[in-house]
Amino acid sequence: MSRRIVVGVAGELAPGQRKLAFIDGRSIVLFNIAGTLHAIDNTCPHNGAALSSGQLEGCMLRCPAHGLRFDVRTGCMAGAGGLSVTTFPVEIVDSKVMVSLDEPNATPSHQRAGSAAT
Ligand code: FES
Repeated sequence: MSRRIVVGVAGELAPGQRKLAFIDGRSIVLFNIAGTLHAIDNTCPHNGAALSSGQLEGCMLRCPAHGLRFDVRTGCMAGAGGLSVTTFPVEIVDSKVMVSLDEPNATPSHQRAGSAAT
């Protein structure tokens, strides 16, 4: 069952802006990319650096520590590295920005599609 947490208000982030939120001991970064909100864990899966200060290039976020790039929409790393950052569903309800924490989408969708065939 998902648990939705209010992390802001609609319209708070303009396109291109980001916001760091601390929820239940977790650090989550919200991005507004071309009008759509995305939320990812602030911890880089490579070596734990904070992703919140990474450079955003379109939908790709570059980790400030070693430069790995992650798509903030899916969490997938660019290329074939296999690492992914946890993403969280974001929705706006009654002008409030809500993040669902209990249903993390840590597995990239392209990996989930083929994972049942073993
Ligand atoms: S800690 Fe992020 S790329 Fe190494």
